[in-house]
Amino acid sequence: MKCVDDFRLRLGNQDLVPIVVGGMGVDISTTELALETARLGGIGHISDAMVPTVSDRHIKTRYIKDKLKHYKFNVESNDKSVVQFDLGMLAEATRWHVGRTMTAKRGDGMVFINCMEKLTMNAPRETLKVRLTAALDAGIDGITLAAGLHLGSFALIEDHPRFRDAKLGIIVSSLRALQLFLRKSARTGRLPDYVVVEGPLAGGHLGFGMDWAQYNLATIIAEIRTWMTSEQIDIPLIAAGGIFTGTDATRFLESGSAAVQVATRFTVSVECGLPDDVKQEYFKTSEENIEVNQISPTGYPMRMLKNSPGIGSGIRPNCEAYGYILDSNGHCAYIDAYFRELATHPGKKFTVQDKTCLCTHMRNFDIWTCGHYTYRLKDTSLKNANNEYQLLTAEHIFNDYRYSRDEKIALPAAINPA
Ligand SMILES: Cc1cc2nc3c(=O)[nH]c(=O)nc-3n(C[C@H](O)[C@H](O)[C@H](O)COP(=O)(O)O)c2cc1C
Repeated sequence: MKCVDDFRLRLGNQDLVPIVVGGMGVDISTTELALETARLGGIGHISDAMVPTVSDRHIKTRYIKDKLKHYKFNVESNDKSVVQFDLGMLAEATRWHVGRTMTAKRGDGMVFINCMEKLTMNAPRETLKVRLTAALDAGIDGITLAAGLHLGSFALIEDHPRFRDAKLGIIVSSLRALQLFLRKSARTGRLPDYVVVEGPLAGGHLGFGMDWAQYNLATIIAEIRTWMTSEQIDIPLIAAGGIFTGTDATRFLESGSAAVQVATRFTVSVECGLPDDVKQEYFKTSEENIEVNQISPTGYPMRMLKNSPGIGSGIRPNCEAYGYILDSNGHCAYIDAYFRELATHPGKKFTVQDKTCLCTHMRNFDIWTCGHYTYRLKDTSLKNANNEYQLLTAEHIFNDYRYSRDEKIALPAAINPA
């Protein structure tokens, strides 16, 4: 039987190991994880979710403090329409994040940025344009447009000098979404360089309704491939969602996918941005503890661990500090849910069960979003004497995907307790 290393992904004039580590916001797919993936010859992603907040954490900028100070007068209000991002600050933070990553890049692989178009930031077009432009300015190898698929995104950057040289890709979960995007961006005369087809077993937000379990990744890819052949469109398809072993990956490559995009296996890597105690939660979890729910105010179903501390917390909306999900009218579904509960529980403590303040909880790693097969992570490592699972290096996981055969998962070498 073949293994992943028998295949290569051709993008432009470059041959890559056909393993893409998907974007995981907020700063779960860190610079370090993306750099390791690129060093090993694949494609790593950083994420453009809440970059000013990420910058504050890493280099002690004061973007969020300053924003909160500016809008402090509004924190008790349920009308957040005045809360805006300073576009200069947004560009500066994005250039820092992308710039520090690209400067440190080594090896033959590539680093892309995952751009969450659902982060509409109370000015969808303007903020998206700034984020995309700043990432290109700072030398990103490619941009993957995700979650929300703003249909006019290519047009926002068509005048950028790197519009044709940077790799641009999209994530879709259906043929219809791909057709819509291609129709809408046809005017720019540029096709995506790759299309990630994400099935219902992925982590993060899903491009499906609550009937997600009725869909199957291989079937969606086959449908898309048949249509592309009939239209004589040739774009590499990258399969994503639930590809847990090298053998799973090889099956997709053998049936014509150009690469696979994976993420869940890397959530327990040393380089992943989740705190170590949260990584242990991912290792320990059971299948019964993983759910797809509708608490994300973006309107997309999201998969997460049921014991995520951010579920039902009922905190005051933090839009004056964050506000990344505010739509063009300064609205977010969590604001409605919170003020509804506040009105029915005057002066009392309460929880909000149906929605969550995603900005705050993702910032604090309190919504533990994950792929369907997270419950299998325990089979990928060893337990230490203290009953904790051993974290894995990204290199170990990458090489396991790359070289393993026969459904095998390579375990790490045991760390000898001193
Ligand atoms: C913890 C986590 C966070 C994620 N965050 C994002 C995200 O911010 N944007 C996005 O497009 N996809 C996100 N995803 C989806 C992955 O990029 C990837 O496509 C998918 O999870 C692959 O399936 P797998 O996790 O079963 O390997 C996330 C996945 C995980 C596990």
